[in-house]
Amino acid sequence: MPYRAILIIVLQTLLVACGVQQGDQQTSSAAVVPAQSSVAAPVSSDNSLDTTAPVVVYSSRQEYLIKPLFDRFTAETGIQVQLQTGEDGPLIARLQAEGDATFADVLYTVDAGNLWAAADKGLLAPLHSEILEANIPAHLRDPEGRWFGLSVRARTIAYSTARVDPAQLSTYEALAEPQWQGRLCLRTSKKVYNMSLVATMIDRLGIAPTEAVVRGWVANLATNVFSSDTLIIEAIAAGQCDVGIVNTYYLGQMQQQDPALPVALFWANQAENGVHVNISGAGITTHASNPAGALRLLEWLSTAAPQYMFSDLNLEYPANPAIAPVALVQNWGEFKQDTINVETAGRLQVEAVMLMDRADYR
Ligand SMILES: [Fe+2]
Repeated sequence: MPYRAILIIVLQTLLVACGVQQGDQQTSSAAVVPAQSSVAAPVSSDNSLDTTAPVVVYSSRQEYLIKPLFDRFTAETGIQVQLQTGEDGPLIARLQAEGDATFADVLYTVDAGNLWAAADKGLLAPLHSEILEANIPAHLRDPEGRWFGLSVRARTIAYSTARVDPAQLSTYEALAEPQWQGRLCLRTSKKVYNMSLVATMIDRLGIAPTEAVVRGWVANLATNVFSSDTLIIEAIAAGQCDVGIVNTYYLGQMQQQDPALPVALFWANQAENGVHVNISGAGITTHASNPAGALRLLEWLSTAAPQYMFSDLNLEYPANPAIAPVALVQNWGEFKQDTINVETAGRLQVEAVMLMDRADYR
Protein backbone atom coordinates (compact mmCIF):
# COMPACT_ATOMS: atom_id res chain seq x y z
CA MET A 1 0.00 0.00 0.00
CA PRO A 2 1.46 3.39 -0.92
CA TYR A 3 2.72 5.54 1.95
CA ARG A 4 0.18 8.28 1.21
CA ALA A 5 -2.76 5.83 1.37
CA ILE A 6 -1.52 4.53 4.73
CA LEU A 7 -1.18 8.11 5.98
CA ILE A 8 -4.74 8.92 4.90
CA ILE A 9 -6.12 5.88 6.72
CA VAL A 10 -4.19 6.81 9.87
CA LEU A 11 -5.48 10.40 9.66
CA GLN A 12 -9.04 9.23 9.10
CA THR A 13 -8.79 6.91 12.11
CA LEU A 14 -7.45 9.77 14.22
CA LEU A 15 -10.23 12.10 13.09
CA VAL A 16 -12.90 9.54 13.99
CA ALA A 17 -11.15 8.92 17.31
CA CYS A 18 -11.24 12.67 17.98
CA GLY A 19 -14.96 12.73 17.28
CA VAL A 20 -14.62 14.62 14.01
CA GLN A 21 -17.17 13.30 11.56
CA GLN A 22 -16.36 13.47 7.92
CA GLY A 23 -19.12 14.74 5.69
CA ASP A 24 -20.72 16.73 8.50
CA GLN A 25 -21.24 19.51 6.06
CA GLN A 26 -24.16 19.11 3.73
CA THR A 27 -22.90 17.95 0.37
CA SER A 28 -24.90 18.45 -2.79
CA SER A 29 -25.25 15.70 -5.36
CA ALA A 30 -22.91 17.72 -7.55
CA ALA A 31 -19.98 17.34 -5.17
CA VAL A 32 -17.72 14.99 -7.05
CA VAL A 33 -14.41 15.68 -5.36
CA PRO A 34 -13.72 12.92 -2.85
CA ALA A 35 -12.56 14.59 0.34
CA GLN A 36 -9.65 12.30 1.14
CA SER A 37 -8.73 10.98 -2.27
CA SER A 38 -5.19 11.58 -3.41
CA VAL A 39 -6.49 11.76 -6.98
CA ALA A 40 -9.51 14.06 -6.89
CA ALA A 41 -11.99 13.57 -9.68
CA PRO A 42 -12.05 16.70 -11.81
CA VAL A 43 -14.99 19.05 -11.40
CA SER A 44 -16.73 19.32 -14.75
CA SER A 45 -19.72 21.04 -16.31
CA ASP A 46 -21.63 17.75 -16.17
CA ASN A 47 -22.34 18.24 -12.48
CA SER A 48 -25.97 18.93 -11.77
CA LEU A 49 -26.58 22.57 -10.91
CA ASP A 50 -28.93 23.54 -8.07
CA THR A 51 -29.59 27.25 -8.57
CA THR A 52 -31.13 27.56 -5.09
CA ALA A 53 -27.79 26.70 -3.44
CA PRO A 54 -25.50 29.70 -2.76
CA VAL A 55 -21.86 29.85 -3.81
CA VAL A 56 -19.58 30.84 -0.94
CA VAL A 57 -16.50 32.81 -2.01
CA TYR A 58 -13.47 33.50 0.18
CA SER A 59 -11.74 36.48 -1.36
CA SER A 60 -8.81 38.76 -0.71
CA ARG A 61 -10.13 41.30 -3.18
CA GLN A 62 -11.70 44.45 -1.87
CA GLU A 63 -15.45 44.06 -1.77
CA TYR A 64 -16.23 47.10 -3.92
CA LEU A 65 -14.16 45.60 -6.75
CA ILE A 66 -16.00 42.27 -6.94
CA LYS A 67 -19.42 42.67 -5.34
CA PRO A 68 -20.85 44.33 -8.48
CA LEU A 69 -19.75 41.28 -10.48
CA PHE A 70 -21.44 38.86 -8.09
CA ASP A 71 -24.60 40.96 -8.00
CA ARG A 72 -24.82 40.77 -11.75
CA PHE A 73 -24.18 37.01 -11.69
CA THR A 74 -27.07 36.61 -9.22
CA ALA A 75 -29.33 38.77 -11.38
CA GLU A 76 -28.55 36.65 -14.46
CA THR A 77 -28.57 33.17 -12.92
CA GLY A 78 -30.58 33.41 -9.70
CA ILE A 79 -27.60 31.91 -7.81
CA GLN A 80 -26.71 33.79 -4.64
CA VAL A 81 -23.04 34.53 -3.86
CA GLN A 82 -21.94 34.80 -0.24
CA LEU A 83 -18.70 36.74 0.05
CA GLN A 84 -16.20 36.53 2.89
CA THR A 85 -13.17 38.77 2.53
CA GLY A 86 -9.78 38.77 4.22
CA GLU A 87 -6.03 38.93 3.59
CA ASP A 88 -4.50 36.27 1.34
CA GLY A 89 -2.35 34.48 3.92
CA PRO A 90 -5.02 34.22 6.64
CA LEU A 91 -7.69 33.18 4.11
CA ILE A 92 -5.54 30.33 2.80
CA ALA A 93 -4.65 29.32 6.37
CA ARG A 94 -8.34 29.36 7.29
CA LEU A 95 -9.21 27.20 4.30
CA GLN A 96 -6.53 24.75 5.36
CA ALA A 97 -7.66 24.72 8.99
CA GLU A 98 -11.31 24.19 8.05
CA GLY A 99 -10.46 21.15 5.96
CA ASP A 100 -13.51 19.28 4.71
CA ALA A 101 -15.77 21.39 6.98
CA THR A 102 -15.02 24.56 5.02
CA PHE A 103 -17.88 26.78 3.88
CA ALA A 104 -15.88 27.99 0.90
CA ASP A 105 -16.71 26.86 -2.61
CA VAL A 106 -14.38 29.33 -4.32
CA LEU A 107 -11.07 30.94 -3.37
CA TYR A 108 -10.56 34.21 -5.22
CA THR A 109 -7.26 36.08 -4.73
CA VAL A 110 -4.81 38.35 -6.47
CA ASP A 111 -1.39 37.16 -7.60
CA ALA A 112 -0.70 33.72 -9.05
CA GLY A 113 1.76 33.18 -6.20
CA ASN A 114 -1.16 32.99 -3.75
CA LEU A 115 -3.20 30.65 -5.95
CA TRP A 116 -0.13 28.49 -6.49
CA ALA A 117 0.37 28.26 -2.71
CA ALA A 118 -3.27 27.25 -2.14
CA ALA A 119 -3.09 24.62 -4.90
CA ASP A 120 0.25 23.38 -3.56
CA LYS A 121 -1.44 22.75 -0.18
CA GLY A 122 -4.12 20.66 -1.90
CA LEU A 123 -6.86 23.23 -1.23
CA LEU A 124 -8.06 23.60 -4.83
CA ALA A 125 -9.70 20.97 -7.02
CA PRO A 126 -8.73 20.37 -10.66
CA LEU A 127 -11.41 21.59 -13.05
CA HIS A 128 -12.29 20.60 -16.54
CA SER A 129 -14.20 23.34 -18.34
CA GLU A 130 -14.24 23.89 -22.08
CA ILE A 131 -15.56 27.41 -21.45
CA LEU A 132 -12.68 28.40 -19.15
CA GLU A 133 -10.10 26.71 -21.36
CA ALA A 134 -11.44 28.57 -24.41
CA ASN A 135 -11.73 31.97 -22.69
CA ILE A 136 -8.56 32.06 -20.55
CA PRO A 137 -5.15 31.78 -22.28
CA ALA A 138 -2.98 28.86 -21.14
CA HIS A 139 -0.30 31.04 -19.50
CA LEU A 140 -2.90 32.63 -17.22
CA ARG A 141 -4.14 29.39 -15.64
CA ASP A 142 -2.79 26.46 -13.69
CA PRO A 143 -1.44 23.72 -16.01
CA GLU A 144 -3.37 21.28 -13.78
CA GLY A 145 -6.63 23.27 -13.94
CA ARG A 146 -6.84 24.13 -10.24
CA TRP A 147 -7.09 27.90 -10.75
CA PHE A 148 -7.81 30.31 -13.57
CA GLY A 149 -6.82 33.93 -14.12
CA LEU A 150 -9.85 36.21 -14.46
CA SER A 151 -8.19 39.61 -14.83
CA VAL A 152 -4.67 40.61 -15.86
CA ARG A 153 -2.50 43.18 -14.11
CA ALA A 154 0.46 44.44 -16.13
CA ARG A 155 3.59 45.52 -14.21
CA THR A 156 5.74 47.78 -16.30
CA ILE A 157 7.94 50.88 -16.32
CA ALA A 158 6.49 54.29 -15.39
CA TYR A 159 8.53 57.38 -16.30
CA SER A 160 8.55 61.13 -15.97
CA THR A 161 7.34 62.75 -19.18
CA ALA A 162 9.29 65.87 -18.12
CA ARG A 163 12.70 64.27 -17.63
CA VAL A 164 12.80 61.00 -19.57
CA ASP A 165 12.82 60.39 -23.31
CA PRO A 166 11.08 57.01 -23.72
CA ALA A 167 13.70 56.15 -26.37
CA GLN A 168 16.09 55.70 -23.41
CA LEU A 169 13.91 52.92 -22.03
CA SER A 170 13.88 49.26 -23.05
CA THR A 171 13.75 46.51 -20.40
CA TYR A 172 13.39 45.93 -16.65
CA GLU A 173 16.98 44.72 -16.76
CA ALA A 174 18.23 47.96 -18.34
CA LEU A 175 17.01 49.91 -15.29
CA ALA A 176 20.14 48.45 -13.64
CA GLU A 177 22.40 50.40 -16.00
CA PRO A 178 24.47 53.38 -14.75
CA GLN A 179 22.39 55.97 -16.66
CA TRP A 180 19.64 55.45 -14.06
CA GLN A 181 21.85 55.99 -11.04
CA GLY A 182 19.93 57.95 -8.40
CA ARG A 183 16.85 58.04 -10.68
CA LEU A 184 14.97 54.79 -9.90
CA CYS A 185 12.08 54.27 -7.47
CA LEU A 186 11.01 50.80 -6.40
CA ARG A 187 8.36 49.34 -4.16
CA THR A 188 9.51 47.18 -1.26
CA SER A 189 10.65 43.65 -2.07
CA LYS A 190 8.21 42.46 0.62
CA LYS A 191 5.31 42.99 -1.76
CA VAL A 192 4.38 39.87 -3.70
CA TYR A 193 4.23 41.87 -6.96
CA ASN A 194 8.00 42.30 -7.03
CA MET A 195 8.62 38.76 -5.82
CA SER A 196 6.62 37.58 -8.84
CA LEU A 197 8.52 39.82 -11.27
CA VAL A 198 11.88 38.59 -9.95
CA ALA A 199 10.67 34.97 -9.95
CA THR A 200 9.90 35.15 -13.68
CA MET A 201 13.28 36.80 -14.31
CA ILE A 202 14.98 33.90 -12.53
CA ASP A 203 13.16 31.47 -14.82
CA ARG A 204 14.14 33.43 -17.93
CA LEU A 205 17.67 34.65 -17.14
CA GLY A 206 18.94 32.34 -14.40
CA ILE A 207 19.88 33.15 -10.82
CA ALA A 208 23.24 34.92 -11.23
CA PRO A 209 22.16 37.27 -14.07
CA THR A 210 18.94 38.12 -12.20
CA GLU A 211 20.88 38.85 -9.03
CA ALA A 212 23.17 41.17 -11.00
CA VAL A 213 20.11 43.06 -12.28
CA VAL A 214 18.56 43.38 -8.82
CA ARG A 215 21.89 44.61 -7.39
CA GLY A 216 21.98 47.19 -10.19
CA TRP A 217 18.46 48.34 -9.32
CA VAL A 218 19.40 48.73 -5.66
CA ALA A 219 22.51 50.72 -6.66
CA ASN A 220 20.32 53.04 -8.77
CA LEU A 221 17.67 53.79 -6.14
CA ALA A 222 16.89 57.46 -5.67
CA THR A 223 15.27 56.95 -2.27
CA ASN A 224 14.33 54.22 0.19
CA VAL A 225 11.87 51.69 -1.22
CA PHE A 226 8.19 52.63 -1.14
CA SER A 227 5.27 50.85 0.46
CA SER A 228 2.95 51.31 -2.52
CA ASP A 229 2.96 51.79 -6.29
CA THR A 230 0.93 54.98 -5.85
CA LEU A 231 3.76 56.53 -3.81
CA ILE A 232 6.21 55.64 -6.62
CA ILE A 233 4.08 57.45 -9.19
CA GLU A 234 3.74 60.46 -6.86
CA ALA A 235 7.54 60.49 -6.39
CA ILE A 236 8.09 60.48 -10.16
CA ALA A 237 5.59 63.29 -10.62
CA ALA A 238 7.24 65.29 -7.81
CA GLY A 239 10.76 64.89 -9.25
CA GLN A 240 12.13 62.59 -6.54
CA CYS A 241 12.96 60.01 -9.19
CA ASP A 242 12.52 59.57 -12.95
CA VAL A 243 11.51 55.92 -13.47
CA GLY A 244 9.83 53.15 -11.52
CA ILE A 245 8.08 49.80 -11.88
CA VAL A 246 4.33 49.78 -11.22
CA ASN A 247 1.07 48.01 -11.90
CA THR A 248 -0.71 50.01 -14.57
CA TYR A 249 -4.06 50.34 -12.76
CA TYR A 250 -2.43 52.52 -10.10
CA LEU A 251 -1.45 55.04 -12.76
CA GLY A 252 -4.97 54.74 -14.18
CA GLN A 253 -6.53 55.62 -10.83
CA MET A 254 -4.28 58.67 -10.59
CA GLN A 255 -4.94 59.71 -14.20
CA GLN A 256 -8.66 59.65 -13.44
CA GLN A 257 -7.99 62.27 -10.75
CA ASP A 258 -5.44 64.26 -12.77
CA PRO A 259 -5.33 63.62 -16.54
CA ALA A 260 -2.31 65.97 -16.83
CA LEU A 261 -0.15 63.90 -14.45
CA PRO A 262 3.41 64.07 -15.91
CA VAL A 263 3.94 60.30 -15.70
CA ALA A 264 3.51 57.79 -18.53
CA LEU A 265 3.82 54.05 -19.06
CA PHE A 266 6.52 52.36 -21.10
CA TRP A 267 5.88 48.79 -22.22
CA ALA A 268 8.95 46.88 -21.07
CA ASN A 269 10.75 44.06 -22.85
CA GLN A 270 8.79 44.31 -26.09
CA ALA A 271 11.73 43.05 -28.16
CA GLU A 272 12.24 40.25 -25.63
CA ASN A 273 9.78 38.26 -23.55
CA GLY A 274 7.12 40.97 -23.11
CA VAL A 275 5.58 42.83 -20.16
CA HIS A 276 5.39 40.97 -16.85
CA VAL A 277 1.77 40.17 -16.10
CA ASN A 278 0.04 38.67 -13.12
CA ILE A 279 -3.58 37.82 -12.44
CA SER A 280 -6.48 37.98 -10.11
CA GLY A 281 -7.95 34.54 -10.28
CA ALA A 282 -9.93 31.83 -8.63
CA GLY A 283 -10.28 28.12 -8.10
CA ILE A 284 -12.86 25.76 -6.64
CA THR A 285 -12.00 24.45 -3.20
CA THR A 286 -11.23 20.76 -2.77
CA HIS A 287 -14.04 20.42 -0.21
CA ALA A 288 -16.62 22.65 -1.93
CA SER A 289 -20.19 21.68 -1.12
CA ASN A 290 -21.45 23.44 -4.25
CA PRO A 291 -18.84 22.78 -6.94
CA ALA A 292 -21.42 22.98 -9.74
CA GLY A 293 -22.51 26.47 -8.68
CA ALA A 294 -18.86 27.45 -8.22
CA LEU A 295 -18.01 26.27 -11.72
CA ARG A 296 -20.96 28.17 -13.16
CA LEU A 297 -19.64 31.32 -11.43
CA LEU A 298 -16.07 30.89 -12.68
CA GLU A 299 -17.23 30.18 -16.23
CA TRP A 300 -19.52 33.22 -16.17
CA LEU A 301 -16.68 35.44 -14.91
CA SER A 302 -14.64 34.53 -18.01
CA THR A 303 -17.34 35.83 -20.39
CA ALA A 304 -17.75 39.24 -22.03
CA ALA A 305 -19.74 41.39 -19.58
CA PRO A 306 -17.87 40.53 -16.36
CA GLN A 307 -14.53 40.61 -18.21
CA TYR A 308 -15.24 44.18 -19.25
CA MET A 309 -16.34 44.99 -15.69
CA PHE A 310 -12.89 44.02 -14.36
CA SER A 311 -11.35 46.80 -16.42
CA ASP A 312 -14.17 49.20 -15.58
CA LEU A 313 -14.02 48.59 -11.81
CA ASN A 314 -10.24 48.48 -11.33
CA LEU A 315 -8.67 49.47 -14.68
CA GLU A 316 -7.22 45.97 -15.08
CA TYR A 317 -7.05 44.03 -18.34
CA PRO A 318 -9.58 41.33 -19.16
CA ALA A 319 -7.94 37.89 -19.05
CA ASN A 320 -10.12 36.90 -21.99
CA PRO A 321 -8.24 38.36 -24.99
CA ALA A 322 -11.45 38.72 -27.00
CA ILE A 323 -12.69 41.48 -24.68
CA ALA A 324 -11.38 45.06 -24.93
CA PRO A 325 -10.80 47.08 -21.73
CA VAL A 326 -12.26 50.52 -20.97
CA ALA A 327 -11.07 53.51 -23.03
CA LEU A 328 -8.63 54.88 -20.43
CA VAL A 329 -6.81 51.52 -20.39
CA GLN A 330 -6.99 51.15 -24.17
CA ASN A 331 -5.35 54.57 -24.50
CA TRP A 332 -2.12 53.21 -23.01
CA GLY A 333 -1.75 51.25 -26.26
CA GLU A 334 -1.28 47.61 -27.08
CA PHE A 335 1.63 45.59 -25.78
CA LYS A 336 3.07 42.12 -25.91
CA GLN A 337 2.64 40.31 -22.59
CA ASP A 338 5.05 37.72 -21.27
CA THR A 339 3.53 34.31 -21.92
CA ILE A 340 5.56 32.48 -19.30
CA ASN A 341 3.00 30.64 -17.17
CA VAL A 342 2.10 32.81 -14.17
CA GLU A 343 2.50 29.76 -11.89
CA THR A 344 6.24 30.53 -12.12
CA ALA A 345 5.56 33.34 -9.64
CA GLY A 346 4.65 30.78 -7.01
CA ARG A 347 7.07 28.05 -7.98
CA LEU A 348 10.12 30.34 -7.74
CA GLN A 349 8.88 32.71 -5.03
CA VAL A 350 11.18 31.43 -2.27
CA GLU A 351 14.14 31.62 -4.65
CA ALA A 352 13.18 35.20 -5.55
CA VAL A 353 12.86 36.30 -1.91
CA MET A 354 16.29 34.86 -1.06
CA LEU A 355 17.85 36.51 -4.10
CA MET A 356 16.40 39.94 -3.27
CA ASP A 357 17.64 39.55 0.29
CA ARG A 358 21.19 38.72 -0.90
CA ALA A 359 21.09 41.78 -3.17
CA ASP A 360 20.11 44.04 -0.22
CA TYR A 361 16.79 44.87 -1.85
CA ARG A 362 14.65 45.71 1.18
FE1 LIG B 1 -2.53 46.19 -6.29
